Amino acid sequence: MKYLTPWLCLATIVLCGDHDDISSQFGAARELRTWDEAYALAKTFVAKLNTAEKISLSSGSGISFGPCSGNTQDIDRLGFREMCFQDGPVGVRGTDKVSVFPAGITTGSTWDKELMYLRSRAMGVENRLKGVNVALAPVAGGLGRAPAAGRNWEAFGSDPYLTGVANAESVKGLQDEGVIACAKHFVGNEQERYRLVIENIPNLDREILASLSSQIDERTLRELYEWPFVDAVEAGAGSVMCSYQRVNNEYSCESTTLIRDHLKSNASGGLNFKGFVMTDWFASAIPSLAARAGVDIIMPGDIGATGIVAALLPASDGASTNGTRLDEMVTRLVASWYKMRQETDWPDVSFSTWSSDEFGVFLDRGYIGQINFHAQAAQPVHATLIRRIAAEGTTLLKNTGSLPLSSTALSIGVFGNDAGPIPESSCGTFGACSAGTLAVGWGSGTGTFEYLIDPLQAITAKAADIGAVVESVLDDYAYTEIREKAAGKDVCFAFVNSRSGEGTNSVEENYGDRNNLTAWRDGDTLVKTVAASCSNTVVVIHSVGPILVEEWVENPNVTAVLLAHLPGQESGNSLVDVLWGDVNPSGKLPYTMGKTEDDYCCKVQYDWTGFQPEQEFSEGLFIDYKWFDKNNIEPRFEFGYGLSYTNFTYDANSLTITEPFDEVDSTDFMAPLFNISVSITNSGPVAGKEVAQLYLKYPSSTSSPVRQLRGFEKLSLQPGETKTAVFVVTKRDVSYWDSGEWKVARGAGYGVEVSASSRDVRAQGVVTF
Ligand SMILES: *[C@@H]1O[C@H](CO)[C@@H](O)[C@H](O)[C@H]1NC(C)=O
Ligand SMILES: *[C@@H]1O[C@H](CO)[C@@H](O)[C@H](O)[C@H]1NC(C)=O
Ligand SMILES: *[C@@H]1O[C@H](CO)[C@@H](O)[C@H](O)[C@H]1NC(C)=O
Ligand SMILES: *[C@@H]1O[C@H](CO)[C@@H](O)[C@H](O)[C@H]1NC(C)=O
Ligand SMILES: *[C@@H]1O[C@H](CO)[C@@H](O)[C@H](O)[C@H]1NC(C)=O
Ligand SMILES: *[C@@H]1O[C@H](CO)[C@@H](O)[C@H](O)[C@H]1NC(C)=O
Repeated sequence: MKYLTPWLCLATIVLCGDHDDISSQFGAARELRTWDEAYALAKTFVAKLNTAEKISLSSGSGISFGPCSGNTQDIDRLGFREMCFQDGPVGVRGTDKVSVFPAGITTGSTWDKELMYLRSRAMGVENRLKGVNVALAPVAGGLGRAPAAGRNWEAFGSDPYLTGVANAESVKGLQDEGVIACAKHFVGNEQERYRLVIENIPNLDREILASLSSQIDERTLRELYEWPFVDAVEAGAGSVMCSYQRVNNEYSCESTTLIRDHLKSNASGGLNFKGFVMTDWFASAIPSLAARAGVDIIMPGDIGATGIVAALLPASDGASTNGTRLDEMVTRLVASWYKMRQETDWPDVSFSTWSSDEFGVFLDRGYIGQINFHAQAAQPVHATLIRRIAAEGTTLLKNTGSLPLSSTALSIGVFGNDAGPIPESSCGTFGACSAGTLAVGWGSGTGTFEYLIDPLQAITAKAADIGAVVESVLDDYAYTEIREKAAGKDVCFAFVNSRSGEGTNSVEENYGDRNNLTAWRDGDTLVKTVAASCSNTVVVIHSVGPILVEEWVENPNVTAVLLAHLPGQESGNSLVDVLWGDVNPSGKLPYTMGKTEDDYCCKVQYDWTGFQPEQEFSEGLFIDYKWFDKNNIEPRFEFGYGLSYTNFTYDANSLTITEPFDEVDSTDFMAPLFNISVSITNSGPVAGKEVAQLYLKYPSSTSSPVRQLRGFEKLSLQPGETKTAVFVVTKRDVSYWDSGEWKVARGAGYGVEVSASSRDVRAQGVVTF
């Protein structure tokens, strides 16, 4: 394998990680303060503030009035600079000299904790170099309840454990560079439609009076939607963003239950969150209610021209005149800032996200002058990392032997608009378009490309290297030309995609959420047309989430199917790495691929007839694979599934479960309880990586899903090599929420499955404690 660098492992006496060639290029992690230290400093600072200054820190300075997505104001008297809050989850958005990283869903597909961390660490570097204080990332909600929901791709997959691990690694990555992470969107933000009263949906025949209410029972909140936020908080997240929509008929950002009792409380069941809570942009119509519920800063602070006056609103409507609350709000914000040590060595903001002009105005600080300084944030090693993540996330769904491509495949056909470049400036600031290759979704979670290696470009370059010839048709509907060019090729690539994004934009009348789960621009017809003429058709899919493949997946001329997810700026290069076998695919599905949309538990609420839309989460815990398992629905490709160019053998007899450690009665939720291990051998011809997955089957008395992911380990194995996957199971991992508290089922057996996917069980046991 290309990426093994054994000399680095010998040179350093540390545990040899699999990505040492990349991780060794990052400096030492910033030494963060503990919360106690940070609070002590914050209290001293806040004691020096007058009320007006405190109020200025309880709200943003007005949308587009400062350089960033959101800003606070300067407090010149104390030398406190305005704080910069900037999108987003695939890198710094809306400026130049930055990278566009693979989306969350691609990162989840790697199941590689080190890559999850490094991706965020690199984003931390770029945010810091641009002067960003708070990165609006990572995303763990939407979790992916409804497969068509618009922003699922920003998060890591439809399982809370997988997403929780990714969330924690992402928080650590950003904050090890001193950038405050913002875990979002808390909570139940599972679709775009109706999320916001002021959002204009052109084909909606009436205004709504309140945002959608996600109706979620307590257990489901705790075990499913809030679960990944526990990981973010445990990892030390400096901030959490409350979401647009309502939960159980109360706005998330005005819910004392969610913010005070669940998130901030240190009582049993509370997450004991010490950082600050901020609203999503315009999520709070009534700042006093948000402030009372425990929100610490209202964003962005106004709507349009009333900026600075509106920033004083919290004072005028009463809530912030409660000095105790106002002090807590400001203390939490400043404590996060001190925790990351942003009072020293923090670059000034060196860009405007609202204008690419060299000179301009920042109204919130009365500044006129240069606003874009073009600080170089992207680094060469980030491009290497982006390519690695995208290649390792790429999921091989079908392969009858055509991949990796043989050196005799010398005439190549490339078909489909998704293989080609994005037309110059056709997609706008928020990436909302349907032309060219799909590399990330649209909305505030998109990225700003310095460059994008499209698949055709990379395949053409590879072909030149090996003396192959490429012919292409990028018009999805030019069927005659496609038939002609596909005939007689050694290999044909058919590219299809499926897009979605944030509700602020629509593309082909998809208002954020997708209208269907099929390939766009008649992708199914494209694949069938190519396959009718070409007996070695490799389908490449770029998709925001589950996509239906029934129309062609069993066609014998479709010899391989690769799901490349949303790869970011190195798209074509990472794909070529996998196609020609420089990287052995090791991605596994972070969601289930069903045969029809009806197979899934849940759909987007598209058409509520009243004025206060609701969505009943009546499926409870049973989303994605848990729904398929419970109802015995055969998926096309199950959660956790993905093929390799080699084979892995699990030794079922090697399954070992340690005696439960002493902590069963510990109050520490995160205490390790026992280890489960199994040995795995690469029994095939080439080096590769296997993601071993641990599923627990809770006792039936707990009315839990059939199986739940509770561990995963990615092992890198040479041919013939054997390693042991060790899963450390914590008290939390065997807990369930019942009658207002976390419980474990003492004395009842928990089934143990170590598996290659959620339905490919390789070793089984039972553990009782
Ligand atoms: C919980 O917080 C309260 C108030 O901040 C504090 O007095 C108490 O000691 C804390 N309890 C625990 C268990 O940390
Ligand atoms: C002020 O805020 C504190 C802390 O949130 C709360 O306990 C108290 O009841 C509030 N007082 C008033 C008058 O609203
Ligand atoms: C699904 O939606 C896409 C995007 O709007 C559209 O191109 C496609 O035709 C739709 N598929 C079906 C079967 O209607
Ligand atoms: C497979 O491709 C060959 C051309 O190589 C064609 O003759 C045949 O009809 C195709 N089969 C299917 C099922 O499309
Ligand atoms: C993996 O094992 C299966 C079943 O034994 C075999 O058919 C296949 O050829 C093997 N694949 C590789 C890449 O070794
Ligand atoms: C459990 O596994 C972890 C990680 O490999 C290891 O550090 C720990 O010592 C193991 N504990 C026991 C009791 O085997």
